[in-house]
Amino acid sequence: MLILGLNMFHADASAAIVHDGEVVFAIAEERLNRVKHYGGFPSLAVKACLDAVGARISDIDHVAVGQDSDANLAKKAQYALANPAKILNFIRLRRRKEAMRDVRSLLAKSLEVDPKELRFQEHHLEHHIAHIASAYYCSPWGKAAGFSYDGSGDFVSTMTARCEGNDIEVLDRVFLPHSLGSFYTMICEFIGYKKYGDEGKVMGLAPYGKDRYCEQVGGVIGLKNGGFQLDLNYFKPLGSNQGMQVLPDGTVRLARHFSDRMVKLFGEPREPDAKITQRDMDLAYAMQHRFEEVFFHLLNQLHTHVPAENLAMAGGCALNSVANGKLFTQTPFQHTWIQPAAGDEGLSIGAALHTYHSVLKQPRRYVMKNAYLGPEFSDSRIESGLRKANLRYHQLEREPLLEATAEQIAAGNVVGWFQGRMEWGPRALGNRSIVAHPGLPNMKDVLNARIKHREWFRPFAPSILAERQNEYFEHDHPSPFMLHVYKIRPEKREQLCAVNHVDDTGRLQSVTRDENPLYYDLIQAFERKAGTPVVLNTSFNENEPIVCAPQEAIDCFKRTRMDVLAIGPFLVLKTEN
Ligand SMILES: [Fe+2]
Repeated sequence: MLILGLNMFHADASAAIVHDGEVVFAIAEERLNRVKHYGGFPSLAVKACLDAVGARISDIDHVAVGQDSDANLAKKAQYALANPAKILNFIRLRRRKEAMRDVRSLLAKSLEVDPKELRFQEHHLEHHIAHIASAYYCSPWGKAAGFSYDGSGDFVSTMTARCEGNDIEVLDRVFLPHSLGSFYTMICEFIGYKKYGDEGKVMGLAPYGKDRYCEQVGGVIGLKNGGFQLDLNYFKPLGSNQGMQVLPDGTVRLARHFSDRMVKLFGEPREPDAKITQRDMDLAYAMQHRFEEVFFHLLNQLHTHVPAENLAMAGGCALNSVANGKLFTQTPFQHTWIQPAAGDEGLSIGAALHTYHSVLKQPRRYVMKNAYLGPEFSDSRIESGLRKANLRYHQLEREPLLEATAEQIAAGNVVGWFQGRMEWGPRALGNRSIVAHPGLPNMKDVLNARIKHREWFRPFAPSILAERQNEYFEHDHPSPFMLHVYKIRPEKREQLCAVNHVDDTGRLQSVTRDENPLYYDLIQAFERKAGTPVVLNTSFNENEPIVCAPQEAIDCFKRTRMDVLAIGPFLVLKTEN
């Protein structure tokens, strides 16, 4: 049985294909059309899914969409009636949603087939149920608490659930305009980060701040009977577009979230290219601090209803790896399974698996053991790309390739590491990564000056051999998808200085040999040369979506001052080119 999952006409459009209950391929459209956070119809992703299983669209039994415009309709109407200026907007949005619901003709058109050939059944699933499904159904658990939170989806910002066997029972929803994600976005915008998806950057700024505004910022979002409530005086009304708009070309634009009350209290908002002041850092600090307080409050409440040790979590806010790293000490939950594509691209997987298990009642056998669900490319395709680019290269067997690459990293060179299937989700996890020495004090500056051009305050992440985690970090819960930040042990901070953030933490990826044997062996080879079972890992890209195909990696290598490219079995040195 083939199920195609979709996230469409929404930020981070994506497609995933589930074959007899197993997710065999999944990809966000941005990786293929190269438009970051693309929010149109994922035509290329659908084609890639079908190619991956050698199927045609007429072979698909079910199509599941992680969005249901009929969900929470009463709440939406109630909000529109209370905000008359928004009614027209609301009606316009409903019309657009109706048009987009015609999945059959959209698929037929994009794949150039006769709609009569399509025999699939169509399913629409509420946004946050799809998020929770994307975590729970990929986890190894038969029982867990389910939690999803983000800016908004189907008029909801937060959902809690009891997950057991095949069932996800929704316990509670927080409706718009109250949203922890919008709270975070509003302050990020105020301090000059106005693009969709910028929130992750500001998380790195928070530890540079001091506890100056915690009390005031605490007033922006109050705790309430197990939930929370925004003080709407700080916000512009979000309207029915829920604060975010997908433009006709598929790019995503954020509406201004903050009101003049923020300006009155904190002064003029920062312009994106202006210098970051202590005020901005202190606001980032207060924002992260309050975010965590509300998050832990919600989880503690959830635990009273579902007293489990296991927490299955997704939603864009679940990418807040700093909060994730602290939840083991702040809540009773002991184990997390967080969907690597916790943002909205993950909805395609969630909707597809929900159809399989909850709608069709098929048994659970699948566990997502790694995030390498994207495309891979043959050696001959890579080699022809290198030839076309007029690059000199060496073809090596596995062991010599690992030895030579580890040698280059140990010598302080920056290596583009392109291997196997592309990662699913926003993190590079050792298949589309730039790797470097974690213990060289200038490595962060080198990477920023030569390739990444990131804000000075953003840390780089470590990949560590999983069984050595406890030696280097103060917490040993695994972090296979780079979704937890832990303190680095004092005696190891110098050894990891290029990945040690200002608050002595690191957003680690714990790597097992089972998940990624080649990457694991590379880190081990590096340890033999440099004495540290850790490499610095940052995504393989330069202000663009992470590279997907060999040509994008080769272009990035040529365009930037990357020293080495290890792509498939080929090693390319800048000094020889
Ligand atoms: Fe979402």
